[in-house]
Amino acid sequence: MRTVFCGELGLKHVGERVTVCGWVNRRRDHGGVIFIDLRDRSGILQLVFHPDAGREAFRIADSLRSEFVIRASGTLVKRPEGRVNPKLSTGEVELAVDDLTVLNPAKTPPFDLAERVTDVDESLRLKYRFLDLRRPEMQRNIIVRYKATKAVRDFLDSEGFLEIETPMLTRSTPEGARDYVVPSRLEKGRFWALPQSPQLFKQLLMVAGFERYFQIARCFRDEDLRADRQPDFTQIDIEMSFVTQEDVLKTVEGMMAYIYKAALGKTIQTPFPRLTYQEAISSYGSDKPDLRFDMKIVELTESLRGAGFKAFDAGAERGGIYGFVIPGGALFSRSRIDGIVELAKQHGIITAWFAFRSEGIVSPVAKFLAPSRLNLLKEACGAKEGDLLLVTAGSKQSSLTGLGALRLELGKTLGMVREDLFKFCWVVDFPLFEYSEEEKRLVAMHHPFTSPKEEDLPLIEERPEAVRAICYDLVLNGVELGSGSIRIHRRDVQEKVFKVLGLGPEEAKEKFGFLLDAFEYGAPPHGGIALGLDRLVMLMVGATTIRDVIAFPKTASGSDPLTGAPATLSEERLKELGLRLDIQ
Ligand code: AMO
Repeated sequence: MRTVFCGELGLKHVGERVTVCGWVNRRRDHGGVIFIDLRDRSGILQLVFHPDAGREAFRIADSLRSEFVIRASGTLVKRPEGRVNPKLSTGEVELAVDDLTVLNPAKTPPFDLAERVTDVDESLRLKYRFLDLRRPEMQRNIIVRYKATKAVRDFLDSEGFLEIETPMLTRSTPEGARDYVVPSRLEKGRFWALPQSPQLFKQLLMVAGFERYFQIARCFRDEDLRADRQPDFTQIDIEMSFVTQEDVLKTVEGMMAYIYKAALGKTIQTPFPRLTYQEAISSYGSDKPDLRFDMKIVELTESLRGAGFKAFDAGAERGGIYGFVIPGGALFSRSRIDGIVELAKQHGIITAWFAFRSEGIVSPVAKFLAPSRLNLLKEACGAKEGDLLLVTAGSKQSSLTGLGALRLELGKTLGMVREDLFKFCWVVDFPLFEYSEEEKRLVAMHHPFTSPKEEDLPLIEERPEAVRAICYDLVLNGVELGSGSIRIHRRDVQEKVFKVLGLGPEEAKEKFGFLLDAFEYGAPPHGGIALGLDRLVMLMVGATTIRDVIAFPKTASGSDPLTGAPATLSEERLKELGLRLDIQ
C-alpha cells in the first residue's frame, strides 16, 4: 500500500512521488492550507494540502481527525525557510498531497497521545494500551526491548549456548514468592504451579549434558508489586557446566557490552567493579549500591566513642557509630538541614550533623565534644571545608540501612545522580543463609541450590550463618538486575543445606527428589545466572517502571484493565475442575 515509511524521507528525496500510510497525529489549518502530521512506526512526516492541488484530497483532508488511518500520495518538496522543524528528522521536507484515502476513521481517543505518559492515569492507559503503545516513546521502548532480546540471542548463540524451552505447567520452584497455580482437570484436587524461574529444569539440562543453556524465560511470582516487579516477567536465564564464578561473570560482562552496543550504540566499560556483600553493606547500606555518586558511609565508632556525648556512647555499645559526608552541605540553610534530619527519621534513624564551615565546626552537639575530637572527626570522615557530616549511632544493621536509604534519597534530591550514566557492579560473597524474622528460622539468601564456598563448608553445622555462598548479583544504578550462583552438584552437600533450612529428608524427597536423584547420575559442576530483562530494558530507555517496557503489563495492583483479567469462572467450569468457591 505504501512506497516508503514516513521517517525515512529527507532532502535527498525531494521531487520524488511517494505514497505513505499511517495515523493522523495532528491537523492544523493555516490560511486556507491544511497540514497533517502523519505518524507511522518510523516517525512523523508533514503532509500539506493546497486547495488548488487536488480538490478531492483537500476536501477529505478537511474531514480528518486525530488517529484516522490514511494513505496519501504526492510529491516530496523542500519546506519553505520559516517552516523547517529541526525537532523532526523529516523536518526539512513535506509531502504535497494530491491523492488521499481514509482507510479507517477513528473515535476520539480517551486521552491525548501527545501528552507525556506520566500525565495520564495509568489504568486508563492500560485499558487502551493499543493506543498508549502508539506513542513514539512507547514504540521506542518496545523496539529497544526487541533489539536487546535479539542481541542476547545473537551473543549467546555465538558463544555456543543453546536456547531450550522448559515447561510452564510444572511444580513449585523455590524462589521465595508465592506460586501462581493452575488446577488440573484430569487429576482433580491437584495443581500445577507456574514457574517462578526455570531453576530446577536448567540444572537438569546440565545433568543432561547440554553444557550451555539459555532461555528468554517467562516467570510468574505472586508477590507484592513495585515499580520494578510484575506478576509475570521475563528473565534472561543462563546455565553453564564446568565453570567457575569467574567464567559466568565474564560471559555476562561480554553479553552486557554486546547488548548496549547493539541496541543503543553505547559502549560500556568492562570488567565491572566488584564489591563483597560486606563491603556493599558497610559502604552503601545496601546490597544493590548505586555507584553513580559517591557519599560512602564511614564508620566513626572509634572517633566518637567516649567523647562525652551520651547518645554516641550508648549507640557505640549497641552496634556502632556511622555517617556520611554531603559535599558542599555545610552551606545549606538551617531549615534545609532540619529537613534532612527529618528525612533520616522517616528511614528509622536519628542523626546528628556537623557543618565544617570556614568559621569553625558548627553542630548542635559540638558543645559536648572537645575541639580536638571535632578535628579528629573531620579527618576520620574525610570531610573538607564546606561539607556536612551526618552521623547516627545504634544497631549496625538499622544504622547502615537507614543511612543507605537516606544516601539514595539525598543523591536524587541534591541532583548528584547523573541519569545518563550506567554504573554496573557485581556484589559477591553473599551469606548462604539469612535469618527470617517472619519465619523465625534460617532461609536461603539466594535459593537452596546455591553452593557454599568450599572453605566455609566445615562451618555449615555449627555456624551456618557464617557460611558464604558462591553467589553473585549484578547491580546497575542501584537496581538488582540479576542473581546467580555456582550450584551444589553433590547430593550430600545438598542434603546438608536442606537440613539447615529445616527440610527433612522426607520433605526434601517429596519436593526435590527428582533433582537429588539426578545428582547421583553424574551431575557436572555447574552454575549460572538470571537477569531481569524488563529491568534491564527499563534502565536502558530511562523508564521509571518496568510497566513502560512491557507491551501488556498488569497495573500496580496486579490486574489487567484491558482484558478485565483476572476473571471469574462459570459454575460448570468450577465443577469440571472439582473446585468450590468459599469467598465472602
Ligand atoms: P532471582 O529470583 O534473583 O533469581 O531473579 C533473577 C532476576 O529476575 C528479576 N526479577 C523480576 N523482575 C520483574 N518482576 C519480578 N517480580 C521479578 N522477580 C525477579 C530480577 C532478578 O534479579 N533462578 C534464579 C537465578 C539463578 O540462580 O540463576 C532466580 O530466579 O532482575
